[in-house]
Amino acid sequence: MSESLFDKIGGMDAVNAAVDIFYTKVLADESINYFFKDTDMMAQAGKQKAFLAFAFGAPMAYTGKNMRDAHTGMNLTEDHFNAVAGHLVSTLQELNVKQELIDEVVAVALTTKDDVIGH
Ligand code: HEM
Repeated sequence: MSESLFDKIGGMDAVNAAVDIFYTKVLADESINYFFKDTDMMAQAGKQKAFLAFAFGAPMAYTGKNMRDAHTGMNLTEDHFNAVAGHLVSTLQELNVKQELIDEVVAVALTTKDDVIGH
């Protein structure tokens, strides 16, 4: 049986550690942090953890909004998306995740791009 991406990066502990570092980076980035000025970051980080775990192939269901509905009306651009994706990559690098796994995570994130931007 092949291990899922979720198992390979270290399961829920790794997702929890990654999301916390990731959000610190996003909130420090003035090119995107204004999107989160009215956001309850505790709730958001919880949703993001569930989403990432699901995207990485964890055996659990994601029950939040789909990515298009979650980002509708924000007029997000490719630059915004790339900024967020960049923070995800540098977070995983800090956690010493292997580059080949980071590439897989990026590939999963990119599958959401058309739904996240341009609406
Ligand atoms: C890989 C790309 C992304 C993923 C996987 C993602 C994931 C999510 C998830 C899971 C939610 C919560 C949905 C719910 O309410 O059930 C959400 C909401 C949100 N996302 Fe994203 N997102 C991405 C890109 C972005 C970008 C590029 C921005 C802005 C720079 C952004 C800003 C927001 C904001 C402001 C909310 C709403 C927070 C609130 O309810 O106040 N997201 N996102």
